[in-house]
Amino acid sequence: MVGGGVIGLSIAWRLAQRGDAVTVHDAAPGSGASHVAAGMLAPVTEVQFGEELLLAMNLESARQYPSFVAQLEAATGRSTGYLPCGTLVVARDNDDLVALDRLAAFQRDLGLDVTKVRAGICREMEPGLTPSVRGGLLVAGDHQVDPRALVAALLDACRGAGVGFVHERVTELPAADVVVVAAGCWSGDIAGVELPVRPVKGQLLRLRGKAGVERNIRGLDVYIVPRPDGEVVVGATVEDKGYDTTVTAGAVHDLLRAAVELVPDVAELELVEVSVGLRPATPDNRPIIERRGDVVVATGHYRNGVLLAPLTASLVADLVR
Ligand code: GLY
Repeated sequence: MVGGGVIGLSIAWRLAQRGDAVTVHDAAPGSGASHVAAGMLAPVTEVQFGEELLLAMNLESARQYPSFVAQLEAATGRSTGYLPCGTLVVARDNDDLVALDRLAAFQRDLGLDVTKVRAGICREMEPGLTPSVRGGLLVAGDHQVDPRALVAALLDACRGAGVGFVHERVTELPAADVVVVAAGCWSGDIAGVELPVRPVKGQLLRLRGKAGVERNIRGLDVYIVPRPDGEVVVGATVEDKGYDTTVTAGAVHDLLRAAVELVPDVAELELVEVSVGLRPATPDNRPIIERRGDVVVATGHYRNGVLLAPLTASLVADLVR
């Protein structure tokens, strides 16, 4: 296994559970995009026009999440922070409201469960929202998990199932009966693996305190993920800048401004961390999960790596067998 992010670790655990001997090669497992991700499990609120096939994968993986985390928590005794909290998408102004109406019509055409919510009801549901909120969409099935807790549990579960770890950066395919390449946006840098995967930079903020909201809150250009332990994640930029991981003042400013517009008390929170992740993107935004002889590729999960971990693990375990 090349790559010890949420995808690689989920695959490694699944394979080891089935009795395969697995070694994960990664200089620092869990330190890439998985460490930065907010952890929204959002097949419905992330859906984009023209991405119906990706939606089907995302919905299936979301369906598998409760049993995936239950098995993981039972195996390790650790919480993954899985929280079936739902998501409220909110409009700040009339333009946003028109955009939300279009989005709701598209989501309903796809048979998805979305409910329009009037402004007053949005505020009753989430008192921390700005008094000027114009309305919203409730997506009851889009939840969250804590990616850092999830990775910690996966590392424990892998070790418990006998997975070995080699802490080195991989440039050549290691020798094994089957090599799984799940190295995110670096997957194509490994000799012999040609992949149309590019890094798409995302800057995210981690804050701490009481924001006054309990569900995931999304505007058209920002999301806010509040956790019961007081962490509040605000994300994210989407920047095609290659492997650049610079934190920029402009991104922090834009994210904070957009978040405070929706949830004013965000301005009172402690700003704990600004982090940058590189999403592995493909030309059609769908992951590449395929077998090529003795190599299985599992990358290109773009904005849905945390969400797609359970489904990817079972698909790859089948491909390996
Ligand atoms: N899934 C959210 C993001 O990639 O920013």
